Amino acid sequence: MTFGALARTLSAAITTPVPRATRVSSAPYRAPSTKEPRPGQLVIDSVSKRFPGSLTPAVDGVSLTCEPGEFVVLVGPSGCGKTTILNIAAGMVRPDAGSVSLDGCEVTAPGPDRAMVFQEHGLFPWLTAAQNVAFGLRMAGVAKPERAERVSNALRMVHLAHVGGKLPHELSGGMRQRIAIARALVMNPAVLLMDEPFAALDAQNRSLLHEQLQELWLQTRKTVLFVTHSVSEAVLLADRVIVMSANPGRVRRDVRVGVPYPRDPEGRDVAEVAKLIRKEIEDEVTRVNAELAEALRRRRDRQETAGLDDPAAELGGGI
Ligand SMILES: Nc1ncnc2c1ncn2[C@@H]1O[C@H](COP(=O)(O)OP(=O)(O)O)[C@@H](O)[C@H]1O
Ligand SMILES: [Mg+2]
Repeated sequence: MTFGALARTLSAAITTPVPRATRVSSAPYRAPSTKEPRPGQLVIDSVSKRFPGSLTPAVDGVSLTCEPGEFVVLVGPSGCGKTTILNIAAGMVRPDAGSVSLDGCEVTAPGPDRAMVFQEHGLFPWLTAAQNVAFGLRMAGVAKPERAERVSNALRMVHLAHVGGKLPHELSGGMRQRIAIARALVMNPAVLLMDEPFAALDAQNRSLLHEQLQELWLQTRKTVLFVTHSVSEAVLLADRVIVMSANPGRVRRDVRVGVPYPRDPEGRDVAEVAKLIRKEIEDEVTRVNAELAEALRRRRDRQETAGLDDPAAELGGGI
């Protein structure tokens, strides 16, 4: 799993067939001037995907635009297609229909303009923190002096300049995840795609990472598309929270949070938005459960009609 995640993360740097000079911007973390058009508009347009062997599409006609610098969070019941959408945006999964574009260019493969951060940090255990952060730049052929400067900037941004020489096993879980974020940021992507990046951390580390990610985002104004199971995390971080429906995965509701940053996780306005989103998810889970119960009932009826009322016959169905 770790290596799969790592391969996906690094594939952006390794597999994109663009000229070396243009692979990686040489301007790390420069906040875009308000006069320049800011990069990072990610348009997901009517995207559908059904995996082989499945009757229901994982995602069906999903349209979602993340404006440059926007922090968009996807929430919804397990299996509603959140990871599939991120993978399609990353160019790792091709949609059956619809398209994804970044700043007007269609996404057809992974690229350095879109960096992914996973729940599993996926660091090379035999490389130091700094070498892990530098790896993508090395693969992209960035010269050593620039590499060193960008790596030290990235480590500073996650407040880990002092651990660059340590191996991953010498760091805490939270630190390893911050190194994974630095490794994504060092490539200076237009968009950060984050799939439950803090789900494996304890509450204390998670809240530290929330603060740091928010600080980083306010500083860099990268477009972020972030997946989480946690409604409070979503409301704390997001400009917009997209509530997905399941079976098939669709956009159920698009909620603009509208609470100024930095946000107080205990604040009343945050709690109100969280309540609304929790209600949407609960309603969705109730709807999906009712649908499943109905499908099960119909199936039993069919089996009884066909004289297959042996309970053992049900076990083969994988319900
Ligand atoms: N590579 C795959 N092959 C087959 N089915 C998949 C694959 N990836 C995801 N799925 C299925 O697609 C649906 C959506 O999955 P996923 O996007 O991982 O959901 P989420 O991240 O919201 O939990 C699930 O039913 C899942 O089993
Ligand atoms: Mg997922």
